[in-house]
Amino acid sequence: MTDQIRVLVVDDIPETRDHLTKLLGFESDIEVVGAAASGREALEMAGRLSPDVVLMDINMPDMDGIATTEQLSSSAPNAAVVMMSVQGEADYLRRSMLAGAREFLVKPFSSDELTASIRQVSARERDKQSRMAVAPVAAVIGGEAAGRTGGAGEPGTVVAVFSPKGGVGRTTVAVNLAIAAATELGKKVVVMDGSFQFGDVGVLLNLNPKSKSIADLIPEMEVGELESIDTFLVDHTAGIRVLLAPPSPETAEMITAGMAKKVIEALRRDHDLVVVDCTSYFNDTTLAILDAADVILTMLSLEITSIKNMRLFLEVAEQLGYESGKVKLILNRADSALGIRVTDVENSIGRKVDEQIVSDGRSVVYALNRGVPFFLSNREAQVSQDILRLARTVTGVGAAVVPEADSQKTTQKKSLFAWR
Ligand SMILES: Nc1ncnc2c1ncn2[C@@H]1O[C@H](COP(=O)(O)OP(=O)(O)O)[C@@H](O)[C@H]1O
Ligand SMILES: [Mg+2]
Repeated sequence: MTDQIRVLVVDDIPETRDHLTKLLGFESDIEVVGAAASGREALEMAGRLSPDVVLMDINMPDMDGIATTEQLSSSAPNAAVVMMSVQGEADYLRRSMLAGAREFLVKPFSSDELTASIRQVSARERDKQSRMAVAPVAAVIGGEAAGRTGGAGEPGTVVAVFSPKGGVGRTTVAVNLAIAAATELGKKVVVMDGSFQFGDVGVLLNLNPKSKSIADLIPEMEVGELESIDTFLVDHTAGIRVLLAPPSPETAEMITAGMAKKVIEALRRDHDLVVVDCTSYFNDTTLAILDAADVILTMLSLEITSIKNMRLFLEVAEQLGYESGKVKLILNRADSALGIRVTDVENSIGRKVDEQIVSDGRSVVYALNRGVPFFLSNREAQVSQDILRLARTVTGVGAAVVPEADSQKTTQKKSLFAWR
């Protein structure tokens, strides 16, 4: 195997095929091995040429990009698909991901975006394949299977708090979980607001909206080194640190998937626990965060829409190659009487809920109005106890025995495994 990334271009328009082939011809690490004019031709060529990456147009006569991608997963399972689409086809993103595409590019895109996407999916795919090659071992050491980088010093655990639907309590849980781990379990914790456009971690923590944020890191992220990341973290009185979202949505757009990944890696180097509050839609930045995470706390509530979206997400997670142990289902407001029972949810999505958190409007709203997270203001409330239990499970600090400070890291790794 060479180090070059072998790309198959698929587009029904000859000029587009030529243009893409020429563009990629300038890249020394990328080789265009073929160009197909239809879905059928793509399937035939992919089987014969074993490309690493298939650059696929979504709109093609006969067999479209989505149908072709679905079939590719059986004829060329190792080829990662980058889907190309024109603007205004929002629903296509989800359908493409469900069909097995790894990336989604909206036309017109720059050659930088194109090559970055190709390199990223190919790296992710190679990483996945090497993990699968050592699957029996990786399955045992949970942390490494989930993408830990190793190296000097133990990297911390990255927990992404995600939900395919908004308003289910991601931010609430992310913030209080972080505080529980810091105050009760003695962990060094940082919260990253991964909802770059409309982040409200700062609001929940009553932080000055003019505080420093991830936006201040953009110049450094572009160069590649994140030396001053520490200076852009905001200290919260609850004993956690926070990397806020940019102050404006325009700035948020400048944060790429690659940057988000770098930031997470930098944060995990210096903290025991990195909690990322994610957005509810799939874009390449969210995917990069989910990829980088050791555990994805997937939040759901007892609502039909939440359950439907959860089913879709679990399919996507499987397509993305996440081991089932990486995705944890957290049912928030589990006791709210809305006519749907927990067992109904479990039957509907075909999976057990891993943890439950009770509904406690009084504590949560009381806290919110005072700008004090409920874990601090209502420490004895059931909702706080539920959060603490979750914090123990994620960090691996058991309820009965609180380990010595220097043995905490080992326990942490064990727990990831223990949760499976
Ligand atoms: N366990 C809970 N009990 C009561 N209210 C809750 C609970 N969790 C979240 N909420 C409330 O639900 C709303 C949405 O929560 P939020 O954390 O902002 O969700 P998301 O970040 O997923 O959009 C907020 O008003 C929050 O106070
Ligand atoms: Mg939120």
